[in-house]
Amino acid sequence: MTPIRKRVLSGIQPTAGSFHLGNYLGAVKNWVSMQDEHDAFYCVVDLHSLTVDPDPAELRTRTLSSIAQLLALGLDPETCTLFIQSHVAAHNQLAWVMECMTGFGEASRMTQFKDKSQKSGADRTVVGLFTYPILMAADILLYQSNYVPVGEDQRQHVELTRDLAQRFNSKYGQTFVIPEPFIMKAGAKIYDLQDPTSKMSKSTASLGGVIDLLDAPEINLKKIKSAVTDTEREVKFDEKNKAGISNLLTIHSSLSGSSIADLENEFAGKGYGDFKAAVAEVVIEYLRPVRERTQQLLTDPSHLQRILKTGAEKAAAVADATLAKTYESIGLVPRG
Ligand code: TYM
Repeated sequence: MTPIRKRVLSGIQPTAGSFHLGNYLGAVKNWVSMQDEHDAFYCVVDLHSLTVDPDPAELRTRTLSSIAQLLALGLDPETCTLFIQSHVAAHNQLAWVMECMTGFGEASRMTQFKDKSQKSGADRTVVGLFTYPILMAADILLYQSNYVPVGEDQRQHVELTRDLAQRFNSKYGQTFVIPEPFIMKAGAKIYDLQDPTSKMSKSTASLGGVIDLLDAPEINLKKIKSAVTDTEREVKFDEKNKAGISNLLTIHSSLSGSSIADLENEFAGKGYGDFKAAVAEVVIEYLRPVRERTQQLLTDPSHLQRILKTGAEKAAAVADATLAKTYESIGLVPRG
């Protein structure tokens, strides 16, 4: 008898023209490696991205480009379920139920909300940014997910999801699987090359520190060569005192598969220039086929649409069943 495979769900926002290396090493790399052994659901969370008021034409392009990038990075639509969040209406429907179970104070404590709302001020912060983690909880709980592969910055949101699921189950009876964050140590937080104490992020003002997967090799070469390091010469992993070099070591090691210790040995006695050139080569050669495959996939939008249609149907079958069970548990009268 084949054992029942564990469920996995994760999502990514289509907020930029390209994913960056942090998205890949922190999350998507694990999505790819988990798809064979798990019943995996992955979505492009277009509804979440509405919190940053995207231009409609750009949102459409970026959503399709996100799907193409996920396929180019190794997701296989025959193996996993790949879909767009807004194609499955149950996400919004469960989010409302979960909003009614979340404390105002509890939502106010989410650090991403605090950081982002502090930056833009209360009047320019939309309510969607506040309820954002609750929609994310709905994404996860609808699929009865056991694991949620994400980068470190999403840990608190998965913890909130667990709390909500536990609260619901104890009040209304067993309804949701309690999910666990799946965060690999290496790559869980990739830092900005210009400011190696902040995470690499799509919303960073200076893009010199962000390696985009779809950027031309010369651009990435330039960014890596001008990465901020320190005044010493030793290529050594020491996150506290050598944040920039440690970040580059993580990037090299995660893409090349060489261990950090082997890399330290290989570059012993050599300067930072040689090391940066090697990191740039690994990054460029890794991304070259990804960029080519993405461009090629985008030449055939109807192929992408077919994948998305099947994905949405498979996702909706699971999500609708969970939503029906939830509605029943809380006492909503079925339409009949
Ligand atoms: P998003 O779109 O900001 O990022 C997608 C994934 O990339 C990871 N990540 C990083 N990992 C390592 N280093 C970095 N510098 C870095 N930057 C981003 C993120 O942790 C994330 O895993 N709220 C989510 C999207 C979401 C979701 C979900 C995730 C919506 N619903 C349900 C999981 C399950 C977000 O904004 O990710």
